[in-house]
Amino acid sequence: MIVTTKKLFELAYGKYAIGAYNINNLEQAMGLFRGCLDSKAPFIIQISKGARTYTEKRMLEAIIRAADQVFPESIFAVHLDHGDEAACMECIASGIYSSVMIDASHEPFDKNIATTKKVVDAAHAKGIVVEAELGQLGGVEEHVQVDEKNANLTDPKQAKEFVTRSGCDSLAVAIGTSHGAYKFTGSQGLHFDVLTEIQKRLPKFPLVMHGSSSVPQEEVERINKAGGALKGAKGVNENEFARAATLGVTKVNIDTDGRLVWTRVHREFFRDKPEKFDLRDPGKIFMGEYAKFIVHKNEKLGSAGKLDEIRKAIAK
Ligand code: G3H
Ligand code: 13P
Ligand code: ZN
Repeated sequence: MIVTTKKLFELAYGKYAIGAYNINNLEQAMGLFRGCLDSKAPFIIQISKGARTYTEKRMLEAIIRAADQVFPESIFAVHLDHGDEAACMECIASGIYSSVMIDASHEPFDKNIATTKKVVDAAHAKGIVVEAELGQLGGVEEHVQVDEKNANLTDPKQAKEFVTRSGCDSLAVAIGTSHGAYKFTGSQGLHFDVLTEIQKRLPKFPLVMHGSSSVPQEEVERINKAGGALKGAKGVNENEFARAATLGVTKVNIDTDGRLVWTRVHREFFRDKPEKFDLRDPGKIFMGEYAKFIVHKNEKLGSAGKLDEIRKAIAK
């Protein structure tokens, strides 16, 4: 069942975080739904601009609609990840999205607010909620590159003003993470000090943590052993999700880890079975492995086992 992102946030805030998983294809969708049902977890399925243009945006929307029928017990929201104004307006009109992210974080403060507010006005008119971003993550995004050392963490004072003036419903905050497989060097990690200050100024307001893949070292080693060359890849400590959730992080974005599972499965498969060429063989393995990965993540996020209480709360 597709539900509003707002409802999921209300039920989870301060207690646990909801996993927001990026999908690009059928196999990821199958693994995601299976894994969330196996762990009895609500979730957010999110589609980036890149995912929408990978094939054709209606393909992914159709996959999600079909998955809703194939897995009728599931409870989830559908979200546009890192949209610009045009993508947000398209998704608001599409009829399947529960929420959109307007990412104008590369713009000056006032312009970010103005663009966000435009999207908020259009989205709220249709009952859709809006995630905005303030501050810049390190690492590489589609449209902007920021060195980690120059990463511009979210300023807690600005965060309050930003939310008040833009009317956004949740805020992606930069607290030390970055997109991709190379997040940290040495002992760097999440900036809980900044997060604490943001929550003080925005109590009960859902915060979003992008760049939250944990880049499991075992996964990286297996990929490298099977011919990969991922040197020095490092992610977020997944044991820190629970603390982040108590400080207001209600949505945790995970994409890279799923790509690593895909890469490991396919590299190992073709290394071990060079005579094979049926794409469904590694595809089946991937769906099962991705589902297992999702179960593990939902346990770390605290969303595992919450499906029944969410179902009851929604039915009220
Ligand atoms: O934040 C970015 C997400 O990982 C989506 O990545 O733009 O390559 O689809 P993408
Ligand atoms: P990762 O690259 O850490 O998976 O982050 C994904 C993300 O933030 C999607 O918006
Ligand atoms: Zn992101």
